[in-house]
Amino acid sequence: MNAPPTGAIPPPSDPEVDEAALLAAARGALDAAYGPYSGVRVGAAVQDEDGRVFAGCNVENASYGLTVCAERNAVARAVGEGARRLVAVAIATSRPDRLPPCGACRQVLREFSEELLVVSEGSDGGTSRWRLSELLPQAFRADDLA
Ligand code: THU
Repeated sequence: MNAPPTGAIPPPSDPEVDEAALLAAARGALDAAYGPYSGVRVGAAVQDEDGRVFAGCNVENASYGLTVCAERNAVARAVGEGARRLVAVAIATSRPDRLPPCGACRQVLREFSEELLVVSEGSDGGTSRWRLSELLPQAFRADDLA
């Protein structure tokens, strides 16, 4: 049985987000993850305002600093297909604990969402939920360039 959800917010009341389907897409991307150096495999799936889902996995490199996280690869795929407003991201990992998105991914996700549900699942099946605004308060935004 799954562990009870943790995190600062309750499960989403937004019926537009099919959390189970989004997590399933993240898990699907996890199958393709490429993490031979850290041993960490991550899959992510973002949902846009039209309900479209785009997935990506982490892609590591022998030149370690060139690694790209699963979330940013999912965002790149979404934006490449014309998505501009994201409403949720799901993250799945090979690790038992639930991964929050790294700082770089938080900033990239913020570019395409006013507010975003973040749901993360560990290999133990437990989930955590956050809002991007709590993970990245005082974000640098396009308005700051005005
Ligand atoms: N990773 C992600 O894919 N997403 C995150 O938000 C955190 C870290 C990946 C990058 C790297 O391949 C591995 O996890 C270990 O840092």
